[in-house]
This record gives sequence, structure tokens and C-alpha cells, in this order.
Amino acid sequence: VAWEGGRITWAGPEQHLPRECAQGESFNAKGALVVPGLVDCHTHLAFAGWRADEFELKVRGASYAEIAKKGGGILSTVSKTRAVPAPELAEHCRRYLRKSSELGVTTLEAKSGYGLSAESELKILEVYSEVASDSLPAVIPTVLAAHAVPLEFQGRADDYVALIANELIPEVAKRGLAKFLDIFVEEIAFSKNQARILAEAGKRSGLSLKLHVDQLGDGGGAALAAELGAVSADHLEHASLEGLRLMKQRGVVGVLLPFACLYAKQPPLKARQLLDEGHFFAVATDFNPGSAPSYHLPLALTLACTMSQFTPAEALNAGTLIAARALGLEGEVGSLEVGKRADMALIDAPSVNEWLYQMQPNACVGTIRGGNLISGSLF
Ligand code: NIG
Ligand code: FE
Repeated sequence: VAWEGGRITWAGPEQHLPRECAQGESFNAKGALVVPGLVDCHTHLAFAGWRADEFELKVRGASYAEIAKKGGGILSTVSKTRAVPAPELAEHCRRYLRKSSELGVTTLEAKSGYGLSAESELKILEVYSEVASDSLPAVIPTVLAAHAVPLEFQGRADDYVALIANELIPEVAKRGLAKFLDIFVEEIAFSKNQARILAEAGKRSGLSLKLHVDQLGDGGGAALAAELGAVSADHLEHASLEGLRLMKQRGVVGVLLPFACLYAKQPPLKARQLLDEGHFFAVATDFNPGSAPSYHLPLALTLACTMSQFTPAEALNAGTLIAARALGLEGEVGSLEVGKRADMALIDAPSVNEWLYQMQPNACVGTIRGGNLISGSLF
């Protein structure tokens, strides 16, 4: 792979390397597998505190919805996240961006959603722009104020939706703090009609749309994503075949989140036949303190194989090119093609099958973003 100014200028078998590319500085990957930099296209990166107490309750049989109704779940993380000063939250984000880069991740989507007030949501999104650094994965920010109805708006969800639509979204867009608007569409969260109102406001402000849908039940979320022209529809554990077909027709990328299946105890989508029919799915971590307390994207890719019947090569594609597509970045990252950013992960394995077959703490020996080594021990 050759690059200049952070962009790939050539990629192919070494014997075809053009002479002009052979000059200049060079790195020897020493037999490591060179894959495109990984793209984690769904995380809730900025949060304060963990929820191990809830983990025990879940193990004892409490459902995700039951825990949420008891004031646990998302709202308990909201009160902790509101209380944390921005510099502390920024430190948390840098820490997990660094850990993620050590696994080979070079681009990471990060949602707000543990603020749930104009002030706290803006605090989180400002933290995302503040932590941006060329030596960490690129952060793609998403406003997920419609993650839960905050306590002050209990029984007045429509008023909260109006606040997001009329005040927060225009402010976020004006300040360039997010690329995407996301909405948690579920019985315990927001209705399809509320999602339509928010999507309209997002569109007016130039934000692209993502949706959390059909996670705990089939709420017709996949079809809604197609109707609203979302860039991606995420979770989909209970999505109907008909909804998935509509998504495919509209070019909506499905994003599967194996950790959330495990922790929220939802059945993974059996993707084999859909993949064979030409559906595209990205796979991401969903990193958050409740339903997915892990930032380990390669492990999520392995689980996509064991739980959702991806081949290892399909899983790699799901964590690179398709994930880039779920972020509207397929022209920029996600594959080793001329013109794209020189983002690469160097993996200590002889093949993709060998890599994703083993659950390893970390097989990544080098991470290159924009042509520069941002983590690793290889060189
Ligand atoms: O993607 N589904 C909604 N939101 C998160 C869970 C967040 C939490 O439990 O704190 C998810 O699974
Ligand atoms: Fe999520």
C-alpha cells in the first residue's frame, strides 16, 4: 500500500508496485495482515459510571424494560453524566478512543444521549469536538437526545420532542456539532410519530438520520427507517423480513450489535439468508454502560460470525466498508482504495479466518490513521 499526504495512492501485489511509489520512507509490516482501519459505526462513547449492579439484576432475570421502568437503565447513567464536568468526560472519551485505536479502530461514531437536556446534550457534543485528534480514531458525532424521556418530562414526552425539534437540533446544526440525528424508537422510548417529527426537524437542519429500531420487539422500525430515508437502522433484533426488504430497496444500511443481543438478552438476527440475498449489514460495538459494556470491535466481529452467521470475510467487511457506508463515509474510509484515507490495521494473524476465529485480547500490532502510526508495537 502506498500513500502520500495521508491518502492512498496505490494498493496491490508488491511486484506491481509502480517505481515512483517505491521511493521515500517505507514500513515493513513484517508478515502482519494489513486490513482497512476498522470503523466502529455505533457507540455511546460519552457516559459517566458503569452499571454492574444492573448486570446482576439482569442475570437474575430482570428484563431491560423492567430495569428502565424502575428508574435504572439509561436514566441512571443520565444523572451521573449530567453531574460530571466536561473535562472529566473528555478524559473518559480519550481513554476509550485510545483503547479502541489499539484494537485497530480508525473511525468511531459517538452518540450523545446521556444528557437529555439542551445543556447536557450540548456538553457531550462539545466534548466530542474537543477530543478530536489526529492521533486518535476520527470521531463522527451523532445527537441522540431522543434516547429516553428525561424525568422532568415524564408524562410530557411530546413537549420533550418539541424541545429537541425546535431548539436543540437547530442549535446543534448551527454549531456543526453533529453529522447525524439518532432516535430510539421503541415502546419504552419514542413512538414512530414522534420519530417522524424529529426526522423532519433533522432534515430541515441538514442532519442525516440514524435510528435505533426493533431492539426489544417488532415495532415496524425497519419499515420506518426506509420511509424516512435513514442512512442506517441499528439493532434490528426483531425486524420483520418485510421491513428489511424495504430497507434494502431504499439503501438503508442495517447495523447489527452482537454485544447488545447478549446483554439485553435479545435474539441475534440470523443474517445468512439475507446476506446471500444481497443485504448489507454493518457490525458495531454499541459501546455503552448498559447493553454493551465493551469497545472490542474485533470481538463483535467474531460474534457476528458465531451468532449471526457471517463469514469472517463478511464480518471484516461489516466492520470496515459497510460500517463506513453506515456513516456516509464510503468514499473516504473503509477500504484500501486509491484516494481514500490511508487508514489501516495490522493484524498478527495469517488470514482473516485465523484472526476472527480466535477470541484474542488483541491481535492488532499497529494502527495507521491518515498514513501515521497512532498505536502499535510493530515499528
Ligand atoms: O443501544 N437501545 C438504546 N440504547 C442503548 C442502551 C443504552 C443503555 O442501556 O444505557 C443501546 O442498546
Ligand atoms: Fe445504541
